[in-house]
Amino acid sequence: MGVYKADDSRYAGMKFRRCGRSGIRLPEISLGLWHNFGGVDSASRGEDIILHAFDRGITHFDLANNYGPPPGSAEAFFGTMMEKHLKIYRDELIISTKAGYGMWDGPYGDWGSRKYLVASCEQSLARMKLDYVDIFYHHRPDPDTPLEETMGALDYVVRSGKALYVGISNYRPAEAAKAIAILRDLGTPCLIHQARYSMLDRWVEDGLYDLLAKEGVGAILFSPLAQGLLTGRYLDGGVPAGSRASRGQFLKPDRLTPAMLAKLNALNDVAVARGETLARVAIKWLLRDERSTSVLVGASSVAQLDENLLALEGAPLSADELAKIETILAMPE
Ligand SMILES: NC(=O)c1ccc[n+]([C@@H]2O[C@H](COP(=O)([O-])OP(=O)(O)OC[C@H]3O[C@@H](n4cnc5c(N)ncnc54)[C@H](OP(=O)(O)O)[C@@H]3O)[C@@H](O)[C@H]2O)c1
Repeated sequence: MGVYKADDSRYAGMKFRRCGRSGIRLPEISLGLWHNFGGVDSASRGEDIILHAFDRGITHFDLANNYGPPPGSAEAFFGTMMEKHLKIYRDELIISTKAGYGMWDGPYGDWGSRKYLVASCEQSLARMKLDYVDIFYHHRPDPDTPLEETMGALDYVVRSGKALYVGISNYRPAEAAKAIAILRDLGTPCLIHQARYSMLDRWVEDGLYDLLAKEGVGAILFSPLAQGLLTGRYLDGGVPAGSRASRGQFLKPDRLTPAMLAKLNALNDVAVARGETLARVAIKWLLRDERSTSVLVGASSVAQLDENLLALEGAPLSADELAKIETILAMPE
């Protein structure tokens, strides 16, 4: 590809939602680089997806130190994208990264110590060729490190100019409440919580959403398509070559039980009845709640991303459709 120039109409079709009680608005759909952008993946396809995303108004790209494989390679790939194409658009982008899972050998490359978080943030900036990230997250709670230390590290990362905002991910309501309170006392409010939420995994409805709304913290939702289950990819029970389930590590083919397939096909019927796809309806379903700041999708092709972006078009789900979906979601898997 030659010199990239972003589409002049990139903001025409995107809607933005305010992230909690902050000054930041995030696109209703953001793009995550957990899969498909590592050292093992096609760089030209990755480049096409990222540039297309930005052309369609996706201003937010989500990374973590360990995304790849190998770990670190998604950030390194994003760094080449920054250098080659996106540098002049830096101020239009919200780039996030995280630390919290195993990243390097020895006792300082995992979990939640100040030592790990600060070093990891420096490494991420170097890989992504950035002066700062917009959001730095603690990726998962650490049962053995005092929360004050972990939140203190997030506060330090902001005060030292390495990040503009901080977030937490995978924290359950009680620990999220404590983390949010500590951060507020430190003067670095928690911008956002990143949680798994989809039609097939509704744990956030059990206290977390209420907490975030009360505290003015945004919510960005990962694996909104249940890694592809809530799309047309597996409806006939087969596992297409190259799909995430075919790789078997994170999405196991044994989830495709007859009961699960019956449920997915019933959901698909609701989508077809309104002339839409299951992926589109699964995203609309998450956006039905105004506390959902952004739906964080993954995509292995431009076509998938475009299909997902269609969720922002057409009518929202009706009360009748939502009731039908509720009944289907109560079916066993
Ligand atoms: N904080 C955390 O702990 C955490 C954990 C997980 C993820 N995340 C974040 O959330 C992001 C999204 O997670 P995710 O990748 O699991 O999300 P997802 O949107 O549920 O799944 C994405 C995968 O589903 C398939 N897919 C997507 N759109 C499709 C379509 N229209 N038709 C058919 N298949 C489609 C693709 O897989 P194939 O084409 O490969 O089959 C794609 O890679 C990650 O990149 C990461 O940034 C965060």
